[in-house]
Amino acid sequence: MNIEQLEKAAEIIRKSRYTVAFTGAGISVESGIPPFRGENGLWNRVDPVYLEIDFFYTKPYQSWKVIKEIFYDKLGDAVPNLAHLTLAKMEERSYLESVITQNIDHLHQKAGNKRVCELHGTYKQLVCTQCHSEYDLSFANLNFLPPTCYICKGILKPDIVFFHEPIPKLVEKRSFEEAAKADVMIIIGTNAEVLPAARIPEIAKEHGAKIIEINIQPTHFTNSLTDIFLEMKATEALGKIGELLYL
Ligand code: APR
Repeated sequence: MNIEQLEKAAEIIRKSRYTVAFTGAGISVESGIPPFRGENGLWNRVDPVYLEIDFFYTKPYQSWKVIKEIFYDKLGDAVPNLAHLTLAKMEERSYLESVITQNIDHLHQKAGNKRVCELHGTYKQLVCTQCHSEYDLSFANLNFLPPTCYICKGILKPDIVFFHEPIPKLVEKRSFEEAAKADVMIIIGTNAEVLPAARIPEIAKEHGAKIIEINIQPTHFTNSLTDIFLEMKATEALGKIGELLYL
């Protein structure tokens, strides 16, 4: 563990005026949720075509069957880990303004964060493809797929961003604004290979933010925009930062 780098990171966060966290699948790996890419990545065993928006509209049953298995059967039982919990404490103690996440797992909110931009949506909500009514997951019956709308009988879609589907404008705008306001951005557990998410750290950097990156391995940001690279697990790095901030 590089304690000097961790102390430097904690000091930057302590002195910052507006710290924003940008998270990806890596932060939830220690909660038992697999990442998308790499050795144990989801896309190694599941064809991403099921998450393409055109496929969903033409074959909703097939799409839902896979989505239920990879997300809905697992995410409900997942609990936040020390990394999520530290970010929640940081927000509570005014060390963190907001979290921008690409994750759909709702673990930042479960941990206690209030200001969360969910760039890729959330599995917790379903939306009708016909009348656009929105349902909390608890109202949907996933024993019969695809689930349908109580009002118009239209097919319900998970409120997540599918491949080839645009990010909801408001969330995108808010995320870009947060990135521009940040004087410190902590990137945690993401390859950020998909746009526009990959733009978030760049926007922060362009506006003068210091970038702290936490990942078990280097990414394409590490040698381009990262100022402090903490090559370790998210729970390890944030656990230690939490101690250094006396959370
Ligand atoms: N701690 C920190 N980082 C970790 C850990 C860990 N315990 N485990 C894995 N990582 C890192 C990996 O090294 C990798 O850089 O997390 C990253 C996960 O990358 P991806 O699986 O590509 O996930 P992400 O970047 O969030 O993907 C972005 O792609 O397909 C989509 O829509 C999906 O939101 C997702 C988007």
